[in-house]
Amino acid sequence: MNRRIFVFDIFGLGVFSIFKNKIKFIKNTEMARSVSTWKTSDANLKAGQLLDKGSNSLDAAVEGVAIEELNPKNTTVGLGGAPDRTGIVTLDACVMNHLGDCGSVVAVENIVHVARLAKDVMEKTPHVMLAGEGAEEFAYTQGYKSRDLLTKESKKEWKDWLKNQEYKPIINIENHDTIGMLCLDKYNNISGACTSSGLAYKMRGRVGDSPIIGSGLFIDNKVGGAVATGLGEEIVKTVGSHLVVELMRQGKSPQEACEIAVKRIADNNKQDNRFQVAYLAINKSGEVGSYSIEPGFSYMDYFNRENKEIISASAY
Ligand code: GLY
Repeated sequence: MNRRIFVFDIFGLGVFSIFKNKIKFIKNTEMARSVSTWKTSDANLKAGQLLDKGSNSLDAAVEGVAIEELNPKNTTVGLGGAPDRTGIVTLDACVMNHLGDCGSVVAVENIVHVARLAKDVMEKTPHVMLAGEGAEEFAYTQGYKSRDLLTKESKKEWKDWLKNQEYKPIINIENHDTIGMLCLDKYNNISGACTSSGLAYKMRGRVGDSPIIGSGLFIDNKVGGAVATGLGEEIVKTVGSHLVVELMRQGKSPQEACEIAVKRIADNNKQDNRFQVAYLAINKSGEVGSYSIEPGFSYMDYFNRENKEIISASAY
């Protein structure tokens, strides 16, 4: 249920809202900014343009990542996402808004737009997280259509993988994972969404960081927000996105916060078993930072009607 109801915009200067029966004027800051992990240009552009039109940060993030969920060429998100080792595609997603409300779905089959579904869990159920069949059944009650998420191409790649069955969760440009998006709207509110098919050829039932509030995504509207990408097991161990936001609360810039959080786990990156983890963060002033363990991570930044790919700094 929407607890805040926007009433009308005043010549682009701001909006009145009714919140708990109090009328409040919220000034437009013109700070609208959207950032998203990896080279997810179309998704970030969609979110940025929605923000420019006055969309709230949650809607912009959810509709932005929906572009990648429907993109069969992105083999790490939604339709065309790599399956688990039994050939079944399972998706994870979560959302969090400026009020601290959140929703999440884990190991969902046959539904493309799982970030929208996570938002529906947040807004239309008394719960935060729904899993597996229960999440899928809930989706059908909300009008979602069933769709086979395994494409001809992803099925062929899985069949090739079956020949050797080597499980190597290498995450980089060619084999990246997860779109995490953070949006700061004109009303100075931050929300985010995170959606992923998880690691290619994972064990059946494996869930990563992406749907775990605090790991794949965390927002505190007083401070900022963060999203994670990379090897979910390592991100969960340090509750990574929450850590980044807490570091910003202690006065660190988004860049410093991402660097400290990455360095906390980089020591586990052994020469013979290297893995990737990256964080992307934004604070209330609209400052952005990012950092990864390995080189090769980039993110999209939409600000002032420009959508740019930024190459992240890295520990190695
Ligand atoms: N970062 C996505 C996953 O590990 O599932």
